Amino acid sequence: MNKKEVSFSPNCNAIIAGSGSAVPPGTLTNEDLTKIVDTSDEWITTRTGIKVRHIASEKETTATLAIEAAKKALAKAQLDPLDIDLIIVATVTPEMVFPSTACFVQDAIGAGNAWAFDLNAACSGFVYGMMIAQQFITTGRYNNVMVIGAETLSKITDYKDRQSCILFGDGAGAVIVQKSFDGPKGILYGCASADGSGWTSINCLAYGSRNPVSQPLEHPDMVFMNINGREVYQLAVRRLVEMVYDCAEKCNLTIDDIDHFIPHQMNARIIESVAKRLKLKDGSVFINIDKYGNTSAASIPIALDECLSTGRIKTGDVVLMAAFGGGLTWGASVIQF
Ligand SMILES: CC(C)(COP(=O)(O)OP(=O)(O)OC[C@H]1O[C@@H](n2cnc3c(N)ncnc32)[C@H](O)[C@@H]1OP(=O)(O)O)[C@@H](O)C(=O)NCCC(=O)NCCS
Repeated sequence: MNKKEVSFSPNCNAIIAGSGSAVPPGTLTNEDLTKIVDTSDEWITTRTGIKVRHIASEKETTATLAIEAAKKALAKAQLDPLDIDLIIVATVTPEMVFPSTACFVQDAIGAGNAWAFDLNAACSGFVYGMMIAQQFITTGRYNNVMVIGAETLSKITDYKDRQSCILFGDGAGAVIVQKSFDGPKGILYGCASADGSGWTSINCLAYGSRNPVSQPLEHPDMVFMNINGREVYQLAVRRLVEMVYDCAEKCNLTIDDIDHFIPHQMNARIIESVAKRLKLKDGSVFINIDKYGNTSAASIPIALDECLSTGRIKTGDVVLMAAFGGGLTWGASVIQF
């Protein structure tokens, strides 16, 4: 048994000790997409805010991206890989059916003291992972939990479907959630919800036990992601707004106390509509979807890493991260830095 597992120390906080991110060098611009499907740069830009996405090559996988992000987060936190107690990889595009992508990360970074598992909550996976990390840290059970969001959505994207193929990109982001006794900072609150009855809105039907590889598919496109964009759009706006109000109330904050709103990057129009309804203060909404598209579970940690590494987030700032996605799932996390 790992000796660290027995050192309980309650009344501690869960802080972000380091972050890292990785995207493949290959890109797919709106102009490139006009050669594949009937679309235009103007339509994609005005309807989604996306300009370019990063796309994995055959050799780049969810694990290779997750490993690169994990190594950068470790370096930022100045930690030895053996200090990591648990690795959670949130993904819907795992390395393979099993073992988990998290086990590939654990091996590659040399985190021999960590247990490791994957979490499937689609675009909400990272904030779900933060909820789990917070529990293990604030009970005093663990010192360092690594939460990664990593995806290679291009591998399940239907490049014949102009509604969905313009949206998605590949990438990974990682954070280390660490036990701290250093004042009232860290994760203040987290919430998570699900509504399985909405599963038909976003899914990928093959190859699970319902549509196994051993049987012919009803339609070959069942291997690709399938989205009902309009339905998801409206639900996402509603749930994101509700969660921000819930987080503010539970943390005893006003909307103006939120210094940075880092939402899942699913569509710039969805984010702008949420910001308008909430009357979030000027300059507090972070959007980088123009550079990456929607990277599902990876989108929030990539955005958070960008905010931290560019100095946008300062000591004392309150950050609210919120996501909505397949499941249906949604969740949020409030962190004071
Ligand atoms: C997909 C999405 C960008 C579509 O934008 P929208 O404003 O809702 O557009 P609509 O679906 O109403 O389609 C409007 C028209 O544009 C067309 N259109 C769809 N994709 C297009 C494209 N890439 N280029 C040009 N026209 C397109 C539609 O066919 C439709 O044409 P019609 O009016 O002749 O039927 C938007 O709904 C969205 O972002 N939804 C959420 C995305 C999602 O599910 N993400 C995954 C979960 S996080």
